[in-house]
Amino acid sequence: NWTMAAYREKMVEKIREQVGTGKVICGLSGGVDSSVAAVLIHEAIGDQLTCIYVDHGLMRLNESEQVVTMFRDQFNIPLVHVDAEKLFIGELEGQSDPETKRKIIGRLFIEVFEEEAKKLGGADFLAQGTLYPDVIESVSFSGGPSVTIKSHHNVGGLPERMNMQLVEPLRELFKDEVRALGRELGIPESFIGRHPFPGPGLAIRCPGGITPEKLDILRQADAIYLDEIRKSGQYDKIWQAFAVLLPVQTVGVMGDGRTYEFVCALRAVTSVDGMTADFYQFDMNFLGKTATRIINEVRGINRVVYDVTSKPPGTIEWE
Ligand code: XMP
Repeated sequence: NWTMAAYREKMVEKIREQVGTGKVICGLSGGVDSSVAAVLIHEAIGDQLTCIYVDHGLMRLNESEQVVTMFRDQFNIPLVHVDAEKLFIGELEGQSDPETKRKIIGRLFIEVFEEEAKKLGGADFLAQGTLYPDVIESVSFSGGPSVTIKSHHNVGGLPERMNMQLVEPLRELFKDEVRALGRELGIPESFIGRHPFPGPGLAIRCPGGITPEKLDILRQADAIYLDEIRKSGQYDKIWQAFAVLLPVQTVGVMGDGRTYEFVCALRAVTSVDGMTADFYQFDMNFLGKTATRIINEVRGINRVVYDVTSKPPGTIEWE
C-alpha cells in the first residue's frame, strides 16, 4: 500500500527530527497500537528506544510470552519485561468496584513504569500509541457536560509526572490504518489482526473481586472461545470477542451429580472504532458447541450465556 509506505517514511523523518539524540521509552501493552508505535520508532532511532512491558498478570493465555518473544527475538528491540503479577493481584484482591479496580491498576502501572524508567537512567521522551479516536474521545463536547464512563488506563498521566515530551506517531490514524502501517513494518499478520485488548486486562472481565483462581478459569474459557471463533473463520469479522466470568454461581447437573459453579458470559461485537458497536450474530449451533466445550473442559464453569447488548446502551467491556 503506497500510502502507508509514504506515511512510514514521513513519520520516520519526523521522529528523528523530534528526538534528535534523545532517549525514548515506550510502555508496551501487548496490544497492536503500542507495538506498531514501538516498531516504527525503533526503525527511526534504533536503540535510543527502550520498551518497558509491565506485565500485570492480567493478560490472556500465553500472551505475555508472545509479546516478549516477538519484540526481543524478531525485532531486536531492547525490552524490559517487568513481572508485577504479585503486586497487581495482591492489591486488587477484595476490590469489587469497577472504577476502584481501574484506578488501582492505573496507579500501580504508573508506579512500576516510573521505577523501571528510573532504573534505566530516565529518558527525554515517552512514546505512546495514541490513535486519532483516543484524541477526540478525550475532548468533551463544547459546553456540554463531560461524563466519565470509565477511567481509561494507559500511560496518559506519565509525561507530566516524569517531565518527558510525548512521541505519538499514530495520532493521525484510525485503527485500520494502524494495522496497515503495522503490516507495512513487517509485523506478523497473526499479531496485527488481533482484537483490541483493554489496558486493565482480564481484571475488568471478571466483574466483582478477582482471585488467581478466577483469572485462571476465565483464561481457559476465553482461549476455547477464541479457538472456536478462529477455527470457524469468523475472527476477522469480529471487532472484539471475549469471555467474562460472572461472580454468580448456579446449579447444574453433571452425570448424576449436582454442580454449583460459575456462569461464563460470551461477548462478541462488530465495530468500526469501538465508540459504537453491534452484538455479533453467531449461529446458534456455534454458540451451543462452544458452550459445551467450555463446560466440559473448564472446571469451575457450568453455565454459559451470550451477551446480546449493543453499544449504546451497553459498553463493550462489562466494567
Ligand atoms: P467500552 O467498554 O468503553 O470500550 O465500550 C471501548 C473500547 O476500549 C477498550 N477499553 C480500553 N482500552 N484501556 C484501554 O486501552 C482501558 O482502560 C480500556 N477500557 C476499555 C475496550 O476493550 C473497547 O475496545
